Amino acid sequence: MALKRALIFLGPPGAGKGTQAKRVAQRYGVLHLSTGDMLRDAVARGTKIGQLAKPIMERGELVPDDIVLAMVEERLSRPDCADGFVFDGFPRTLPQAQRLDEILERRGWGKPLVIDFEVPAEVLIRRLSGRWMCSVGGEIYNVLDHPPKKIGFCDVDGGKLYQRPDDQPAVVKDRLVAYERQTRPLAEYYRKRGVLNVVDASARMEEVDRALAAILSRAEG
Ligand code: AP5
Repeated sequence: MALKRALIFLGPPGAGKGTQAKRVAQRYGVLHLSTGDMLRDAVARGTKIGQLAKPIMERGELVPDDIVLAMVEERLSRPDCADGFVFDGFPRTLPQAQRLDEILERRGWGKPLVIDFEVPAEVLIRRLSGRWMCSVGGEIYNVLDHPPKKIGFCDVDGGKLYQRPDDQPAVVKDRLVAYERQTRPLAEYYRKRGVLNVVDASARMEEVDRALAAILSRAEG
């Protein structure tokens, strides 16, 4: 990875972290690690973690730190993480951030580069109500801003599109509450460490793309 740093995409549900993490990971040839995707995969496969996480995710709450941290540590120990990674949706609590710092330090990665995606709540709710995901490759669409060419099917692999159960308006409300209480304080944690960059993620995708590229190219030096 040219950046030689771990990237962390921080921000509320629907801010566009997943959309941009996929693009950046592809551009830099590094892994996109989404704890949400990992947990949804565990739920779909009915693993022990999946069974524990399913009702918590359905309520829009955060899965306990010990479960998420064990899953992330196991994932980072695999060889395909050696060239770097973009974290999307992790860390989400102070204990997760502190543990990640220890892991990065131990692996010689040093301080991460953190991007905070800022978006007003009304935009988030609108985005999440229009989101459709590919059931095969996880490609992300939006009926309003980024529709697929053929309704209901993925442009990339033809997979069927679905709506996430936690994108129901009542659950979105609870996810936003969890974000404000447990995750928003991480911005201050990273600001104090001098690694926080804020992006206006309410802008159009191409503009967010450009803002991110500018931050990353500065970081590359
Ligand atoms: P997770 O899957 O991580 O969800 P999230 O953080 O709530 O974020 P989202 O995936 O909903 O949104 P996003 O920011 O990725 O937006 P996207 O790019 O899709 O977590 C789900 C659950 O898992 C949690 O509630 C929790 O229970 C559990 N969990 C996960 N990680 C955990 C952890 N670390 N600890 C504990 N529990 C954990 O974009 C949204 C929509 O907007 C799309 O339709 C997209 O096309 C559109 N869009 C994107 N950018 C733009 C733009 N610039 N303009 C217009 N539209 C846009």
